[in-house]
Amino acid sequence: MNPVIALLGDFSETERSQWLNHLRAAMPDEQILPFAELNPTQKELVEFAIVANPDPAQIAELPNLVWAHSLWAGVEKIIANFGQGSLQIVRLIDPNLANLMAEACLAWTLYLHRAMPTYRQQQQTQTWQQQPYIAAQDRTIGLLGLGKLGTAVAKRLLANGFKVAGWSRTPKLLAGCDCYNGDAGLDQLLAGSDIVIGLLPATPDTAGLLNRTRLAKLKPGASLINFGRGSLIEQDALLDALDSAQVEHAVLDVFDKEPLPKDHAYWHHAQVTLLPHISAPTQPDSASQIVARHLADFRQTGRIPATVDLVRGY
Ligand SMILES: NC(=O)c1ccc[n+]([C@@H]2O[C@H](COP(=O)([O-])OP(=O)(O)OC[C@H]3O[C@@H](n4cnc5c(N)ncnc54)[C@H](OP(=O)(O)O)[C@@H]3O)[C@@H](O)[C@H]2O)c1
Repeated sequence: MNPVIALLGDFSETERSQWLNHLRAAMPDEQILPFAELNPTQKELVEFAIVANPDPAQIAELPNLVWAHSLWAGVEKIIANFGQGSLQIVRLIDPNLANLMAEACLAWTLYLHRAMPTYRQQQQTQTWQQQPYIAAQDRTIGLLGLGKLGTAVAKRLLANGFKVAGWSRTPKLLAGCDCYNGDAGLDQLLAGSDIVIGLLPATPDTAGLLNRTRLAKLKPGASLINFGRGSLIEQDALLDALDSAQVEHAVLDVFDKEPLPKDHAYWHHAQVTLLPHISAPTQPDSASQIVARHLADFRQTGRIPATVDLVRGY
């Protein structure tokens, strides 16, 4: 009999029971229990846990835990809590999630490309004015991050006729996409893009990357979409860049503090479209299948799938 699997996370009751249903359906031969239902012997035996921003105090009660599979793609909170220890962390890599992110990036790129924020404002002032049309092939979309999500987004935007550039930490080759890396590469991408999309993980190196200096390097009047993590953007610098029209519009899905505080300037800013972290929600169905596949492989071979690089931060 395999040791029990612990489910730990900051879920509501409903979310926890939904996740348990999906996970148990994907792994009918495994015993999966929420942390609160583990007895002291079971806690001793747990070697594998399924986690979503778990409480460090609970993890500390599992002395033989070797590895944990995150249900989220972003793992900065787990790294902040467990980066110094020996716990091996596997993050969620789900083609379904990449597909959702590609759809979201296409949707909000089209929103900016077809000047919807401007037409919305014109409607409010009963202004009948046709804005000049710029063809998709004359727009460059710059992607910060060419990982699992960025690559899927690049392909979707290319298929829809946009020019695409991308920036990553290491050099990349992606058909049809101008790939950059390094500081000089970032400057080139910022200067050449009409819309810049943030798809970077939250790490010490990406924190505040889009600061005042870098926002000034954007093509004047470019727009921003940030679907990676809020820490990418220096908020005061963005507000100033919006006010000076250096940035025309920002579509923001992720923030330093979530939910975004009610008194934040973004809420009422005419050039900001605000989303409540919805660009690519984890799909419990496919995520549970992925965890099940990884666990089955571990049970058979003892192999743990590729884990997060704790030094790199993603
Ligand atoms: N808003 C949402 O609903 C939502 C949903 C899912 C995920 N996310 C966020 O999206 C992020 C990206 O996900 P992913 O699956 O695409 O991650 P990933 O596969 O790990 O890709 C990360 C990309 O960022 C690049 N990168 C990391 N640090 C960098 C640096 N300092 N300079 C330049 N490039 C850097 C990486 O470069 P290399 O390729 O060279 O390693 C890679 O291309 C996640 O970490 C998560 O925070 C948001």
